[in-house]
Amino acid sequence: MTSTTGRVVLVTGSSSGIGAATARLLAARGMRVVINYLHSAKAAEEVVADIEATGGQAMAIQADVCEPAAVEALLERVRAAWGGVDVLVHNALTPYAIKPFQDMTWKELGGKVDDEMRAAFVVTKAVLPAMTENHWGRLIYLGTGLSRQPRAGMIALGTAKAALTQFARYLAQELGPQGVTVNVVEPGPVAETTMSTVLDDEVKQRQVAATPLGRLARPADVANVVAFYASEDNAFMTGTTAAVNGGLAMY
Ligand SMILES: NC(=O)c1ccc[n+]([C@@H]2O[C@H](COP(=O)([O-])OP(=O)(O)OC[C@H]3O[C@@H](n4cnc5c(N)ncnc54)[C@H](OP(=O)(O)O)[C@@H]3O)[C@@H](O)[C@H]2O)c1
Repeated sequence: MTSTTGRVVLVTGSSSGIGAATARLLAARGMRVVINYLHSAKAAEEVVADIEATGGQAMAIQADVCEPAAVEALLERVRAAWGGVDVLVHNALTPYAIKPFQDMTWKELGGKVDDEMRAAFVVTKAVLPAMTENHWGRLIYLGTGLSRQPRAGMIALGTAKAALTQFARYLAQELGPQGVTVNVVEPGPVAETTMSTVLDDEVKQRQVAATPLGRLARPADVANVVAFYASEDNAFMTGTTAAVNGGLAMY
């Protein structure tokens, strides 16, 4: 893999799960990493400490990704320390209701679509000027296989993430001429995340049985794919989605 040394990456929602694994890996590849979180200051500081202990550079900054003023304040701190953000990994997971459509209110469904798109809009608007000015940037969004393949109770998340994926394709079309690639990583079920603690063991066993590679994804599996999209190696893929699901669904 070619060097990404010194590039500045913002990983939203990286105090735990996939975001934390991605932050650790990108730091190990030489990037300077902004660990963003909402509530979990201690966990975020632990990720920073792990990175620094292995010689990497990281800083933890609290900001609600749905709030433009908070994201702007985050970026001001990053600019003062390191300059503009070169790579965005938008990973933060805002809360959502898990229930059938027939029990769901518009506030729950519309609220999740609004939160998902608002966060993507706010964060992308904030980081983009530095990328277009440098004629180099990487936008990577965390989607989900549930945006293509429905699962009971997941209509709010699946619908919101489908919108996010199409948003990314439109960005890819508009921003390609300005040197910015835009891609989506779509995991299947991932172990060692908040979602994996919610699913009961029987569901997990069924998912493993239906997965040709014979296990659930680990956060590091997803991080490896994000790292490719973030790197100089990805010179010519944009507007794509990468399924990280061990073959659970094929499309
Ligand atoms: N886990 C899976 O099986 C799976 C499967 C497919 C796709 N994905 C996608 O992968 C991404 C990460 O999922 P995950 O399971 O690793 O998540 P997670 O473990 O639940 O972590 C969520 C992260 O988002 C942060 N966050 C939540 N609301 C925020 C806000 N408003 N502003 C800033 N940060 C906020 C949390 O910070 P605090 O802890 O500080 O609140 C935390 O760091 C999500 O986009 C998810 O949809 C996950």
